[in-house]
Amino acid sequence: MHHKNDDNRHPDQPPLFTWEFAGDPYPAYAWLREHAPVHRTTLPSGVDAWLVTRYADARQALADQRLSKNPVHHSEAAHGKGKVGIPGERSANLMTHLLNIDPPDHTRLRRLVSKAFTPRRVAEFAPRVQELTDHLIDGFAARGTADLIHEFAFPLPIYAICDMLGVPPEDQDDFRDWAGMMIRHGGGPRGGVARSVKRMRTYLAELIHRKREEPGEDLISGLIRASDHGEHLTENEAAAMAFILLFAGFETTVNLIGNGTYALLRNPGQRERLQRALAEGDESLLATGIEELLRYDGPVELATWRFATRELTIGGQRIAEGDPVLVVLAAADRDPERFADPDILDLARTDNQHLGYGHGIHYCLGAPLARLEGRTALATLLRRLPDLRLSVDPAELRWRGGLIMRGLRTLPVEFTA
Ligand code: HEM
Repeated sequence: MHHKNDDNRHPDQPPLFTWEFAGDPYPAYAWLREHAPVHRTTLPSGVDAWLVTRYADARQALADQRLSKNPVHHSEAAHGKGKVGIPGERSANLMTHLLNIDPPDHTRLRRLVSKAFTPRRVAEFAPRVQELTDHLIDGFAARGTADLIHEFAFPLPIYAICDMLGVPPEDQDDFRDWAGMMIRHGGGPRGGVARSVKRMRTYLAELIHRKREEPGEDLISGLIRASDHGEHLTENEAAAMAFILLFAGFETTVNLIGNGTYALLRNPGQRERLQRALAEGDESLLATGIEELLRYDGPVELATWRFATRELTIGGQRIAEGDPVLVVLAAADRDPERFADPDILDLARTDNQHLGYGHGIHYCLGAPLARLEGRTALATLLRRLPDLRLSVDPAELRWRGGLIMRGLRTLPVEFTA
């Protein structure tokens, strides 16, 4: 087999990071999986990184402790050249969060947050997610048209996580604005993003201070209270934790609802099957279906940065110390070596160990909440707007051009009011 790992694109290789690629990256990933499964490329930011595209290599790399999450291990960062482009990286205080650190710090912080952010807390939150979902649909149901990204997928996760954290309702629209800034400029100019991160940091620090004085039943109070063998989170650690919960749980869930709804609208047979099952009160297809939507066109296209702390090989390819490694979840999850008919959406797929939530010690902490929001959002949309359909030609839809995430800018729909 032909391995190609330099920047000189092979004549047959579909281009990466163009607008066409953003609309449908899967053919380019299929080419890489087959011809250059561990591929060195120059990212739009100018940074060189390795793309890992096969399922087996991807799963292994995600769990490989020689790959660090801490940007100090990046060779260019170490030499003071180039930036790795993590949004908000200048606000150092919030950046010491789970996705930027390794054991033993990661182990300690993850254990503490797991005591507060429990599956039980998420389960108890289900009625509130249903209420928020219905409230948002009420906002456009009588109109017969909507942009499901702006009016539905975008506000739902931000209000949900704000509620769970204990951000008072009157302050939640500020979060909506800051988050909007972060999502719009995720892959672009950083000025507004840095400002939004700064405002959020100040706000969270004050909120944590208030909750320490007057604890409640919310997640922030839970984070402050959480203890493990006498250890607690410091105020700064609690702020960084609240920030990563917001940041990691926001655009991902927007895209789960957006990409998921879009995939259902493009696959009418599957959508009808799901709608029928839901009408009969059977939620099992919804459960496997959400996992399949994550595999088929998941929110996280590339896992967040990893850096080689020493020389190592992935899939037979030598990676030098300090090199950035990006695991392409979207490519791995369509690997025909792992999934039968990987390009087909099959909501009933059961052998589905997809990597949409990552793998290993950084496996998504918010998966139970994401599943709850995804299931509630899609099931409620299909129940309440049974003839939901796209109101534009799919070719007109635009995808956001960020590096890590994959999601639509808008999703215009129509339905019988
Ligand atoms: C980590 C995906 C929703 C919180 C991750 C990772 C992935 C992921 C792939 C691992 C990244 C890596 O290893 O580089 C998703 C998807 C979601 C979702 C697809 C929605 C469908 C959420 C939500 C929350 C959340 C709702 C919290 C409210 C986190 C946190 C981490 C994480 C805190 C870091 C865990 C660690 O480093 O130990 N997520 N996520 N995520 N996610 Fe999610």
